[in-house]
Amino acid sequence: MPTTPTLGDRTLALQWPDGETIDLHYIWLRDNCPCPECKHPDAWERLLDNVEIDLDVKPESASFDEFLDITWQDGHKTSMSAAWLQANRYGREGRDSRREKPVLWTSSIAKDPPRISLGEIDSGDKGLRRWLTLVRDYGFAIVTGVPTRVGAVIELANRIAHIQETHFGREFQVISKPDPENLAFTSVKLTAHTDVVNRRNLPGLQFLHCIEFEAEGGDSILVDGFEAARRLREQHPDMHDLLASVEVPYLFLDNGHDVRNHQRVIVLDGDGNHEEVRVHSALLGAVDLDPELIEPFYQAWQVFGNILRDPELEYEFKMEPGDCQVFDNRRVLHARAEFDPNTGPRHLQGTYVERDDFMSKLRVLERVNNEFRLS
Ligand code: OGA
Ligand code: ZN
Ligand code: ZN
Repeated sequence: MPTTPTLGDRTLALQWPDGETIDLHYIWLRDNCPCPECKHPDAWERLLDNVEIDLDVKPESASFDEFLDITWQDGHKTSMSAAWLQANRYGREGRDSRREKPVLWTSSIAKDPPRISLGEIDSGDKGLRRWLTLVRDYGFAIVTGVPTRVGAVIELANRIAHIQETHFGREFQVISKPDPENLAFTSVKLTAHTDVVNRRNLPGLQFLHCIEFEAEGGDSILVDGFEAARRLREQHPDMHDLLASVEVPYLFLDNGHDVRNHQRVIVLDGDGNHEEVRVHSALLGAVDLDPELIEPFYQAWQVFGNILRDPELEYEFKMEPGDCQVFDNRRVLHARAEFDPNTGPRHLQGTYVERDDFMSKLRVLERVNNEFRLS
């Protein structure tokens, strides 16, 4: 049954079938007109120059059913679907409904860790979508049955998108070797860290594929950085807020590189939700905060570091040849125990994919019908 929206001075009020009323600003409605004059039908981008819209734009009349139909005072007509309006509501509630909802986890995830075989991924879009959904929700998934040869990890990553290159190149071999470029290429223990925190655009998804593993030790650990940040916020809000507000230097140096940036250890979105955790003890430069913040910073860094190392949060496992860890490097931290290179080889190959490309792939797989063009 069509209803007539109530036309106010700056907004109109719509009543949803469930009885709820929402107010929508005229300027916002006019800006989002999806007609072919305002939105290019093929490029799906805005043609309307919204710098030129009259801020006092007003409807002449409006009706609402499955579509909100507006005739503006200058005669332009706008027709927007109720589904689009519902999906794109503004304000905190609307943003929350569209936000990713990470499923936080602790060590008990070991009972049923997110795992998927390469065979399932390659069985069709459903398999690919299940893999990417696991990574989005849990921040990681172990892919099993990846061929144990150099290059297979690139092919796995390319099922999502192109590679995100860094100063380590397109990919890297994790083996214990003389003259290592970084600590991962030794046999020492690596505490829980985020890779490549020194880059402003740090790698999104990280892949670590086990090609050979006969050495003793070298177990893997994953930790949910968002659960750790949640605990820090609950237990020590002041320390949490300090790490989420000050910027510290992270740097990578070798003979040909000097890649450095100031970064926050905990990155929040505009609503205060955890968006990134950037922790890498080995890459922290000489902290250059104001003198009164030096001790509070180290105190907060250590308290957070200890939460990240709490066995209650650690998912510990041993990789087997053919396994590939795939994790969201902005959320899940990784670690490994020391290993003894004299007891046999340990060879992983790693690479990265941009987080935007990963989420884009998943959203495209989630498209049900042409509605996506409207949202
Ligand atoms: C790395 C790393 C972990 C491992 O290469 O970034 O942290 O298990 N490796 O060797
Ligand atoms: Zn239009
Ligand atoms: Zn690493």
